[in-house]
Amino acid sequence: MNKKNSVFIATSLDGYIADKKGGMDWLHSIPNPNNDDMGYVEFIKEIDALIMGRKTFETVLGFDVEWPYNQAVFVLSNKLKEIPDTHKDKAFLIKGTLIEILDQIHEKGLNRLYVDGGTTIRSFLKEDLIDEMVLTTIPILLGGGSSLFGELPNELKFERIGAKTYANQITQNHYRRKR
Ligand SMILES: NC(=O)c1ccc[n+]([C@@H]2O[C@H](COP(=O)([O-])OP(=O)(O)OC[C@H]3O[C@@H](n4cnc5c(N)ncnc54)[C@H](OP(=O)(O)O)[C@@H]3O)[C@@H](O)[C@H]2O)c1
Repeated sequence: MNKKNSVFIATSLDGYIADKKGGMDWLHSIPNPNNDDMGYVEFIKEIDALIMGRKTFETVLGFDVEWPYNQAVFVLSNKLKEIPDTHKDKAFLIKGTLIEILDQIHEKGLNRLYVDGGTTIRSFLKEDLIDEMVLTTIPILLGGGSSLFGELPNELKFERIGAKTYANQITQNHYRRKR
């Protein structure tokens, strides 16, 4: 099966994924009375496993909801020594270079991967390891916070393969790496 590393993430107009305090309440600043999942369910059902930075992992652990993933979650961290007992069957620490990490995951037959967390996404982009990105833009300027993108050693061209608008306010663009 084809290997694919995907991003599905929401940003502010100025490109932040968390505000200056690390908060994400602004994601819900546009009313969504019908609880539209904005393509997330369709996206996640095509995913075999997640690769997530430690900070995003801790954010998700802190949400007052049931663990939201059915797939294995591989957590990148130099600091975390072990996954909390409550999640040891759901999340796994993984070490190595990104290529080594991908090899370890692919060896398990997990090929379609969801890459999440700002630092994590940036490190994948630096090595040109992202194949597609679904970027949902919330019309708010946060003025600071955690950026999605950063410097890259080289330009990376993408082609837009889809676009949607939700509630006439939220735009979502689907990009595929043009190699
Ligand atoms: N808007 C959205 O849709 C959205 C989505 C996801 C996350 N977020 C938010 O964005 C913020 C997280 O962003 P972030 O940029 O701080 O983080 P992140 O990528 O989730 O986590 C960063 C941490 O991951 C580990 N890490 C990343 N790459 C690594 C590598 N190659 N090797 C080893 N460890 C690696 C490091 O952990 P150690 O420090 O332990 O070494 C690093 O400090 C959080 O506030 C999160 O809640 C928002």
